Amino acid sequence: MGSNYGDIMRKIESREAVVSVVGLGYVGLPLVLAFVDAGFRVVGVDLDESKVARLNAGESYVSDIPASRVAAAMNARTAAGSKTSSVAVGKIRQSGSLTATTEFEVLRQADAVVVCVPTPLNKTKDPDMTPVISATDDVARRLHAGMLVVLESTTYPGTTQEVVLPRLESSSGNGHPLKVGEDFFLAFSPERIDPGRKDYTVVNTPKVIGGVTPSCLEVAQALYGSAIHRTVPVSSPKVAEMVKLLENTFRAVNIGLVNEVAIMCDRLGMDVWEVIEAAKTKPFGFMPFYPGPGLGGHCIPIDPQYLAWKLQTLNYDARFIRLAAEINFEMPHYVVGKVAAALNEERKAVNGSKVLILGVAYKADVGDVRESPSLDLIHLLKSQGAEVSYHDPHVPEAVVDGVAMRSAALDETTLRGMDCVVIATAHKAYDWDWVLKHSRLVVDTRNATKAVAENGARVVKL
Ligand SMILES: NC(=O)c1ccc[n+]([C@@H]2O[C@H](COP(=O)([O-])OP(=O)(O)OC[C@H]3O[C@@H](n4cnc5c(N)ncnc54)[C@H](O)[C@@H]3O)[C@@H](O)[C@H]2O)c1
Repeated sequence: MGSNYGDIMRKIESREAVVSVVGLGYVGLPLVLAFVDAGFRVVGVDLDESKVARLNAGESYVSDIPASRVAAAMNARTAAGSKTSSVAVGKIRQSGSLTATTEFEVLRQADAVVVCVPTPLNKTKDPDMTPVISATDDVARRLHAGMLVVLESTTYPGTTQEVVLPRLESSSGNGHPLKVGEDFFLAFSPERIDPGRKDYTVVNTPKVIGGVTPSCLEVAQALYGSAIHRTVPVSSPKVAEMVKLLENTFRAVNIGLVNEVAIMCDRLGMDVWEVIEAAKTKPFGFMPFYPGPGLGGHCIPIDPQYLAWKLQTLNYDARFIRLAAEINFEMPHYVVGKVAAALNEERKAVNGSKVLILGVAYKADVGDVRESPSLDLIHLLKSQGAEVSYHDPHVPEAVVDGVAMRSAALDETTLRGMDCVVIATAHKAYDWDWVLKHSRLVVDTRNATKAVAENGARVVKL
């Protein structure tokens, strides 16, 4: 192995390596803090000036990351800087530190760069690779010998080798092209965190890593191994990219299946929740998934489409993905049908009814509304003439169809004034007994009221 390999391995081992994380969102920020906790000097880079300013002010914008952790990482900056000069590197474990900036020039000083930018879909539901390409080009312009580059953004199999690698190799080295595996190192490692989750975090969720060459894998494993409990090496970046897509396609397909089972149970006149509860007593071969008003978040609705798109370029139709998407994206319409039927039983029309949506975040106990089915519910109900408001303890304001809505006050008067209350997201903060006591009609899409005795409201479940 060459000297670049030896240099970066030594810097990682001694914590002398400067780690840069590009993209400081739900994925990038927890990762930054994991590297800081492992003793590295970390430089976060993001295009978003407000995020950078908030980090530098010691604030957090990710709900499950306390500001105190950001502030501690920021404050360690001076301490860590002075330690590096006075203490023999590698002899003791330094405390890490964090700085954040919008200036990509800092990448020239970075030994390792981890890219965590978004991978959305464009209007035609194809992968929008603009953020990955733009971040890669920004890294490529500052690529230097001995650098490790890792892509963490979820993407289709082949991205690291087909999109990232050629850009790094072609624009590197100021006229002296750098060679992967010898001069610089490149890997893909998918982020698997589940925001809001306390038992499995970035640090104790095993990290799958695929390197372009064996030395790329070793360097990436050394970096992640110093911050994360367990690394799982695979044979290539393409395999690592596919691992992530299998995991999230597995979820999307099973959610699609259970959503269809909910529709079947409704036709058959039975309670899908009771069926699932009983089925999950089987100790093997069954894993419970739960129906709901649709799919949300930046991952499950989007990631399988990356895989389907890639297969489409190879003339293969990803049928499970297509079918699951069809069922899952239809769920908000199904729920609106339930609301209409429930109102009809009370001789009311959707048109003119007052409907309150409880929870607009895509899942419980987070403030993220990306792709949230609650936004679809609001849109559909409004388009049928309902007077729609929402409450969410984690989302003070939400934009639906270009119109900003504010979370309504949640009190007895509000609930009593509603023709229908729709439980869309079962945040722990809600007291369901109280909600039912003061409401007339509740459509519960999450089985949130399962433990509440009948106490006033008529409850219609999914
Ligand atoms: N959110 C999750 O639960 C989750 C979990 C696993 C994997 N992922 C994947 O991780 C990636 C990031 O997701 P996220 O939820 O953190 O997104 P995010 O939108 O919360 O954060 C991305 C950040 O990147 C910044 N950014 C965009 N383009 C940039 C550029 N060219 N240079 C520098 N910064 C740029 C944005 O300003 C933003 O702060 C996606 O590929 C996503 O699919 C997300």
